[in-house]
Amino acid sequence: MSMPESNVRTTTVGIIGAGRIGHAIARLAVRAGRTTVMSNSKGPDSLRSLARELGASVRAGSVKEAAEQDIVVVAVPWDRVEEALYRLPAWNGRIVVDATNAVIVPGYRAVDLGCRASSEVFASLVPGARVVKGFNTLVAAVLASDPSVSGGQRVLFYSGDDVAAKQGFHQLATEAGFAAIDLGNLAASRVQQFPGPLAAINFIKVP
Ligand SMILES: NC(=O)c1ccc[n+]([C@@H]2O[C@H](COP(=O)([O-])OP(=O)(O)OC[C@H]3O[C@@H](n4cnc5c(N)ncnc54)[C@H](OP(=O)(O)O)[C@@H]3O)[C@@H](O)[C@H]2O)c1
Repeated sequence: MSMPESNVRTTTVGIIGAGRIGHAIARLAVRAGRTTVMSNSKGPDSLRSLARELGASVRAGSVKEAAEQDIVVVAVPWDRVEEALYRLPAWNGRIVVDATNAVIVPGYRAVDLGCRASSEVFASLVPGARVVKGFNTLVAAVLASDPSVSGGQRVLFYSGDDVAAKQGFHQLATEAGFAAIDLGNLAASRVQQFPGPLAAINFIKVP
């Protein structure tokens, strides 16, 4: 089921983690015309040339600055998520997109989380945030590439418990040129996570 257009306007994007997937999400944000702050653990100086290369709407910032944007995307390795997030100020209802996969690299070994979806574990680390699971099913090179393919649009799946937060994600994805598809609540993100039926599958929605 696709989320209808709404009047929710989210303007800025903050990205925590500026590796392969963070870089791809920054490209997507540029396609959507969003002002974007990228961050990593080494600090803004290490990211200035990357930000310049991505375009005038992207700047390097601290993790705290990235976390202050309207939509915050977390794109760090699973074993660094807690350390990336624990010192940040209160989330106060901010939209936080979990782009992670609960895997240990190298080896792509899935982390055993018992019966919980990885995004439910993630949500417990960002109390007060409105969590959306998204951007995690496509490999970075595909996510960064032109979403208009074979006469159709590349599909991005998302899920979450907060309708307005999902509208914010939907708007970002569609303005970047993707076909965004709502899978339901955060517990449904299980099908998005790795390993899961949608992991690394590159769907195209044809008109
Ligand atoms: N690569 C893919 O195709 C892909 C696809 C879908 C989902 N994912 C998921 O996306 C996440 C990132 O994967 P990746 O491949 O992009 O990893 P990556 O290339 O290794 O990049 C990781 C980034 O996270 C940053 N980081 C690490 N610890 C941090 C901290 N404490 N605070 C702020 N930034 C921190 C690193 O910055 P420093 O170097 O400064 O530490 C680096 O910029 C993972 O959870 C992965 O499963 C990846």
